[in-house]
Amino acid sequence: ASLVVLISGSGSNLQSIIDATQNGILKGEAIVTHVLSNRKNAYGLERASKAGIPTSVHPLLPYKKEYGNEVGRKKYDTDLSEKIIALKPSLVVCAGWMHILSPEVLAPLENRNIGIINLHPALPGAFNGIHAIERAFEAAQQGKITKTGAMVHWVITEVDGGKPILVQEVSIEPQDTVETLENKIHNIEHKILVEAIHNIVSATTDA
Ligand code: GRF
Repeated sequence: ASLVVLISGSGSNLQSIIDATQNGILKGEAIVTHVLSNRKNAYGLERASKAGIPTSVHPLLPYKKEYGNEVGRKKYDTDLSEKIIALKPSLVVCAGWMHILSPEVLAPLENRNIGIINLHPALPGAFNGIHAIERAFEAAQQGKITKTGAMVHWVITEVDGGKPILVQEVSIEPQDTVETLENKIHNIEHKILVEAIHNIVSATTDA
């Protein structure tokens, strides 16, 4: 299976996928064929290049400058969709991709049966959207929750609302800080993302 991975940041989750394709459970069944970032200085691009994986950058700003916010975003999204389709992926993986994927992006992919999954550092329906870890930590501070977690889910237009593929919980201990909680979550993210990809690609015939 050929994976196109979308990133915006450090790419530690991308790295776990790359490692798994080289000498882990994804070896022989999946390869990362392209890494696309919306930010040219995303460190994940370095990680991809080091692994000999082609990369590209798809920044939003030039679209907004050229066409204005509204039209700019729509053109950005349709161009993003066309770029992804041209790469002929079996599966698209959002690993720290920080833009909301609109219907302009998702519909053409759906029409071509190209699945897209996302990693989100919270439990289904708990803290959708940004700063999920910090918000979970706050809720724990207020005594509202004692656990959070991370999940891999199918991407639909509702932000972080798609059907979960893999979910793992972590407990929030009294001695936890945001940093220790982040560490716990990032450690399980790396694991469940690779496992989720394995479950998907080993289930489909075109492994
Ligand atoms: C991860 O916590 C992911 O769940 C969130 O963004 C972070 C990406 O980290 N969407 P990295 O760029 O993979 O290190």
